[in-house]
Amino acid sequence: MNYRITLLPGDGIGPEIMTVAVDVLKVISKQFNLNFEFQEAPIGGVAIDATGEPLPKETLEKCRNSDAVLLAAIGGYKWDNLPRHQRPETGLLGLRAGLGLFANLRPAKILPQLIDASSLKREIVEGVDIMVVRELTGGIYFGTPKGVFETETGEKRGVNTMAYTESEIDRIAKVGFETAQKRGGKLCSVDKANVLEVSQFWRDRITQMSSEFPNVELSHLYVDNAAMQLVRWPKQFDTIVTGNLFGDILSDAAAMLTGSIGMLPSASLGASGPGVFEPVHGSAPDIAGQDKANPLAQVLSVAMMLRYALEQPAAADKIEEAVLQVLDLGYRTGDIMSEGMKQVGCKEMAEVLLKVLS
Ligand code: IPM
Ligand code: MG
Repeated sequence: MNYRITLLPGDGIGPEIMTVAVDVLKVISKQFNLNFEFQEAPIGGVAIDATGEPLPKETLEKCRNSDAVLLAAIGGYKWDNLPRHQRPETGLLGLRAGLGLFANLRPAKILPQLIDASSLKREIVEGVDIMVVRELTGGIYFGTPKGVFETETGEKRGVNTMAYTESEIDRIAKVGFETAQKRGGKLCSVDKANVLEVSQFWRDRITQMSSEFPNVELSHLYVDNAAMQLVRWPKQFDTIVTGNLFGDILSDAAAMLTGSIGMLPSASLGASGPGVFEPVHGSAPDIAGQDKANPLAQVLSVAMMLRYALEQPAAADKIEEAVLQVLDLGYRTGDIMSEGMKQVGCKEMAEVLLKVLS
């Protein structure tokens, strides 16, 4: 099989961890007789420096003309004070919107090898395996009106709008139910229906759809309670479906249960066309270029790409097993280091991983 993969290394530690991902794909390509054609493009800060824009048209075009997009991370101090339309984050939002990636899957699974890296007690986090399904192209991130406007009295007023249409709710709800069906059969929808009309509407649509999925047990939580339950007793959750902003916040909290955000991949999928696969963590500018980054979330994002976009589950399994084996051997980057383990940099972690893989 031939696959064209667009690589978006981006900023900070992005290029370092992307190199590891590509090396992994090269090994996998031989073993599974897959042929990868790589094309690289700038996004985020590097794109701003090169072209003045965080998402150049050519980058989006390249992404569209590929089977899948592998993204590392964007952003850094240097671009933090630019006007909003020029900020790296705007490039990421443009990519999501431009490719119609409405469904964001963020797994938070605790690995037995890293259980002591969690800031919560062992008995609370042991066995946690949550999938957050976050709506990604709607809600308050994209709703209009948005901006800072002057009122009649001459006072300025900042505005964003949280809005969801029927079809936007239905398509993400379907992904939520189908994901739950393939996992533990439990779906928790998170909203703020006690205050927000848009949330009550969300809750009603999802409840309506539940009759199509009789084998999925549906529950609802308000977002403040959901945040509390996530740290109180995370094992009660299987699959969570929620809107863009709540999903942004809850997926960070869920990620932290596992002890290292440096281990978590994510997938962003549309109705058709290429998906984007990227680590949950950011560009970590404080450790960029120092060979300290943990490349494993990027590598696990490669596995998600093989599973969800390229339909190569055996190759995905192989990569995920190799990551666990490397941890079993005791290798740790600084972010997941614990007593008695062997601390390594990004490059050495990659070497060990590639050895295990081949
Ligand atoms: C994320 C990030 C982004 C978001 C930012 C960088 C725009 O926090 O992917 O969770 O808010 O969606
Ligand atoms: Mg976030």
